[in-house]
Amino acid sequence: MPNRIKKIAVLTSGGDAPGMNAAVRSVVRTCAYHGVECVGVYRGYQGMIEGDFKPMDARSVRGIINKGGTILKSARSKEFRTKEGREKAFQNIKKAGVEGLVIIGGDGSFTGALVFNQEYGFPVMGIPGTIDNDIFGTTHTLGFDTALNTVVDAIDKIRDTASSHNRLFFIEVMGRDVGHIALNTGIAGGAEEILIPEEDLGLDRLVESLNKSKKTGKTSSIVVVAEGDKIGKNIFELKEYVDENMEGYDVRVSVLGHMQRGGAPSCFDRVLASRMGVKAVETLLNGQTNYMVGLQNNKMELTPLDNAIKGKTKINLELLRVSDIMST
Ligand code: F6P
Repeated sequence: MPNRIKKIAVLTSGGDAPGMNAAVRSVVRTCAYHGVECVGVYRGYQGMIEGDFKPMDARSVRGIINKGGTILKSARSKEFRTKEGREKAFQNIKKAGVEGLVIIGGDGSFTGALVFNQEYGFPVMGIPGTIDNDIFGTTHTLGFDTALNTVVDAIDKIRDTASSHNRLFFIEVMGRDVGHIALNTGIAGGAEEILIPEEDLGLDRLVESLNKSKKTGKTSSIVVVAEGDKIGKNIFELKEYVDENMEGYDVRVSVLGHMQRGGAPSCFDRVLASRMGVKAVETLLNGQTNYMVGLQNNKMELTPLDNAIKGKTKINLELLRVSDIMST
């Protein structure tokens, strides 16, 4: 392996996701394995601008593989979007002797990395970390699997109380632009309807379908709604609409919110994070730059950062059909 780079920095940026710590650990330990120095950057790009760095060795990442959040902290830095901000970041990172950067985050973080590379020719590698699973080039982002399990657990609990009171529950899950969390957890949680940003079911059809379920003997119902749902109504407006247009159900709303981003990463996310960290560091050490590592057909693959940013993930149409059949 042509070991050109002597020091690598790692940072977490954007919304945190379970598995980020496992990825930091993997980056740090892969560096140690190859005899490369590693530096942790605190608070994402903002920490780069402020020179908030800490040298990390294999032992400094002990006991974190099972922890949610990110020990490096995260931020959405406005200053890094400016040329002056990036110049400060470059001067700091140069002064620290860093020669390559691993960014664990979403597409906003990758856009920052790409601009930084274009301006300074600085080698960068991306690891996709977001619970939304909305990044092109990987079937799974870090944190998605854990969030699914967290949400299903919550839906199961809500179902207990929904069925005890013959209630209809609207449950809002995260997914600003995509319905991956809603669709998967809706199926797994036995939801009667799933509302996602990719599909406009329409309010009338929603009521029609809930009425149909009721007629076939259902006494309680769960509707999972992605926060970016295409009907365009927030979950409280949906409740109001159903209250006004449907009889016989006591309607309640539950917004799961940020609890979906926390918690110990699942086994799947820990393994994925470990694989991604190894691939990211070894790609940099191979002299390659501007890629995102991803999971495709159970292999670690590289996607040019540019494609990862511009590409769109697609909703699985087969899952949509399964969910329709299951709500019969
Ligand atoms: O991490 C992505 C995400 O979970 C989105 O689904 C959600 O809209 C957003 O983060 C909320 O993030 P924040 O509250 O940190 O702005």
